[in-house]
Amino acid sequence: MGDIQGIKRVFRSWWAGEDRRITELTETTYFDPNGLFVAERNKEILGFSYAYVDPRIINKPGRKLGFLSGIFTLPHIPEVAVRLLERSTQYLRELKATEIGIPDFSNSLGDGVSAERDSELYRLYRDAGFSIYTHSYQMSRSLEDLAVPQWVKNRREAILADGFLLRKAKKDDARALIELSEEAFKESHDHIPKSKDDRELAMKEMDLRIAKTVLFENDCRVVGSSDFSIEKYGKVVVGYPCVAVLPTYRNKGLGTVLFWDTLGRLKESGMSIAAVSVVSKNYPAVHMYRKAGFNIDKIWYHLRKNI
Ligand SMILES: CC(C)(COP(=O)(O)OP(=O)(O)OC[C@H]1O[C@@H](n2cnc3c(N)ncnc32)[C@H](O)[C@@H]1OP(=O)(O)O)[C@@H](O)C(=O)NCCC(=O)NCCS
Repeated sequence: MGDIQGIKRVFRSWWAGEDRRITELTETTYFDPNGLFVAERNKEILGFSYAYVDPRIINKPGRKLGFLSGIFTLPHIPEVAVRLLERSTQYLRELKATEIGIPDFSNSLGDGVSAERDSELYRLYRDAGFSIYTHSYQMSRSLEDLAVPQWVKNRREAILADGFLLRKAKKDDARALIELSEEAFKESHDHIPKSKDDRELAMKEMDLRIAKTVLFENDCRVVGSSDFSIEKYGKVVVGYPCVAVLPTYRNKGLGTVLFWDTLGRLKESGMSIAAVSVVSKNYPAVHMYRKAGFNIDKIWYHLRKNI
């Protein structure tokens, strides 16, 4: 079983910027300390994995989706990864999971498995019987040359003239923003929404995000919002914008205006790159990102296996 401090050290020494993920794991999302497994030899941590069943997720009848958030090992020790995969699978079976998803789909996409970058890991999963469930793209653009195009300015003017209010979010908006996010992302996940009663964790998460959120209001209702997270990779600081618009308010330009607003704030905050992770079938979002000058850097594979 893992100890959080040890895992944090591992994250820090191996992946600059991964500190955010451990914070997400332990503070803002459902966290199961029993799901952390560490592989040690002579007191040296060689790798670890994190597996869990999120009790907030509503599964299809007769199904229970367990997650393997990842297997992280020092390079070129596949036997450690195999062992961690076996142990994590056993743990998910103990929790009566019927299926394993890699990686975590419940809160954010996380990194999937990249066939080129993680060839060893990808092979390990394929050999263990996992198959590709979906793909996602990692897309990015430089913010150095960011300038809001005239067509976006025109869209913004038209939307404001239509009676929509664009403003920064306040603490009081937390509940409305959570509801918006649940509604907006409902169809992009197969096992969401979270239970309506379980808002505590979502509120905690929202508290951290609210200062970075802008929203569109219409008839006193929050109908779209955008925020961002930040990751540091050595000296490079990357901003990750996120946008959500209620289904009935889509295709009016709200998403684009919110997205460009957030890109502007990322640039103002000194970030040099904006990046997004998006499921390849999320056509409107991919379209919006491409139109905003984003290119695909990497294709991630998301895997599933019945157990
Ligand atoms: C992505 C999202 C924010 C876009 O919001 P929106 O208010 O509809 O965005 P806009 O109206 O500004 O632009 C949508 C664009 O997608 C295009 N589009 C819509 N459906 C499309 C489809 N099936 N295939 C390709 N393009 C599509 C629209 O034509 C429009 O293009 P245009 O700018 O060339 O006119 C919204 O769909 C959403 O909330 N999705 C769920 C949450 C999500 O996936 N967020 C992104 C990941 S963080």
